[in-house]
Amino acid sequence: MAKQEDQFKKVLSHAKEYGYVFQSSEIYDGLSAVYDYAQNGVELKKNIRDYWWKAMVQMHENIVGIDAAILMHPTTWKASGHVDAFNDPLIDNKDSKKRYRADVLVEDFREKINQKIEKDITKAKKRFGESFNEEEFRATNQNVIRRQKQMDEITVELTRVQEESDLEGFRQLIIDLGINCPVSGSNNWTEVKQFNLMFGTKIGASAENSTQVYLRPETAQGIFVNFLNVQKTGRMKIPFGIAQTGKAFRNEIVARQFIFRMREFEQMEMQFFVKPGTQKEWYKEWKETRLKWHLSLGMGAENYRFHDHDKLAHYADAAADIEFNFPFGFKELEGIHSRTDFDLKAHEEYSGKKLQYFDHEENKSYVPYVVETSIGLDRMFLAVFSNSLQEEALENGTTRTVLKLPAVLAPFKAAIFPLVKKDGLPEVARKIMDDLKWDFNVFYDEKDAVGKRYRRQDAAGTPFCITVDHDTLKDNSVTIRHRDTMEQKRVAIADLKQIIKDAVDVKTWLQKM
Ligand code: GAP
Repeated sequence: MAKQEDQFKKVLSHAKEYGYVFQSSEIYDGLSAVYDYAQNGVELKKNIRDYWWKAMVQMHENIVGIDAAILMHPTTWKASGHVDAFNDPLIDNKDSKKRYRADVLVEDFREKINQKIEKDITKAKKRFGESFNEEEFRATNQNVIRRQKQMDEITVELTRVQEESDLEGFRQLIIDLGINCPVSGSNNWTEVKQFNLMFGTKIGASAENSTQVYLRPETAQGIFVNFLNVQKTGRMKIPFGIAQTGKAFRNEIVARQFIFRMREFEQMEMQFFVKPGTQKEWYKEWKETRLKWHLSLGMGAENYRFHDHDKLAHYADAAADIEFNFPFGFKELEGIHSRTDFDLKAHEEYSGKKLQYFDHEENKSYVPYVVETSIGLDRMFLAVFSNSLQEEALENGTTRTVLKLPAVLAPFKAAIFPLVKKDGLPEVARKIMDDLKWDFNVFYDEKDAVGKRYRRQDAAGTPFCITVDHDTLKDNSVTIRHRDTMEQKRVAIADLKQIIKDAVDVKTWLQKM
């Protein structure tokens, strides 16, 4: 646990030090759960977005993109259920005046029990070595059995109070479990209240004539309301998809873990419209396809797992998360949801307009079913960034900090250095830079000893460093150093473009899918 926290702290400080993520309005002490992407961060974010867009839109002839507005007609959110049901249960501690999400208090409590089980298992594994059988241990160890039973009981009661919106039952559960406020240490709790997560604002010049609108809490609704426009103008045939990337806003109560849970964030969503009755197959297909996309980045298959939902939202007939092993454990990175015809039907009802597809093969109209893939761009950024940040012990006894970003996503693909700032070397280095910059984002640096410059680029995540030295003047060759292996090779300037292209080309990476 301490190791995980340590790694997470390193991620936070590295993201700031190397120009990836800054706290928003830092000079005013920041705004909670809002962040700015800095000069390197904006490039990484753009590259992740492009990698998603290419895989989803460019590679699928039956998927097109849109860019809908953040502000939408307020009835959209009534139809989608967000006005009435996009709530989190809140509870305050009367002594510390601190506010918590009631479900998070209970889930954290349950997780602590789970960690005790894991600790017992780790200990037993050490004791029994090769002969250890985890399944048998879980089934026979009395401590584990007792704790697992307690966890299961908590899950059942938590699900019940949530499903039945039993707010008094929720409070009682917290009290019965003996959960105290981490700040005051007391269990002097208020009642549980529902809190809507949408940010509201007004359109209009005067108070009397203004209209209540909302900052969208998901990009998906912009796709649903445009379903027929896109289908007709694009002459799309079912099955087809509409993709979109863009900002979403949620007034999260417990906003923590850096860019994992933000109040302003970006989503990359795709709604796939299918014939009713075929949604199960498409759901399975998209689960597989999306996992393959993640795996193509080479961040370790062991760092992903599916979490199939037992408790489904009112609109879904199946749902799963792709979870990633973040520095604070496995957490949701992406959701794949089979959303039935709930959204389109609701928009039909509230707008009074038909949102149906005429199927020429079937010779009938119907409201399509929808399978959605929805990933948070900022969460993906955190997954990539935290997984890439490594400390390596070197043979000479020193350590180096290296950000082993997948080369296809790295903000800068190469840094170009003249060995010294004289003898015509900067001019040659600049010439190489001027040529490469048409194809790649490249960086020029002539300050400090070359070893120091290498380390700076390792930590910033640049896959290649190219050094121009005195031999370059004689034979038009340079040294190219690889970030991950630190291997250095002498190559012709004329070959640089191809060497970099081979390593960073989207095609090479996406073909691994
Ligand atoms: N349209 C479906 C939808 O919005 P969701 O599970 O609420 O589903 C989808 O969100 C994804 O958006 C999540 O898997 C997560 O990656 C990202 N996300 C949700 N809330 C977020 C937040 N407050 N901060 C950052 N990312 C968030």
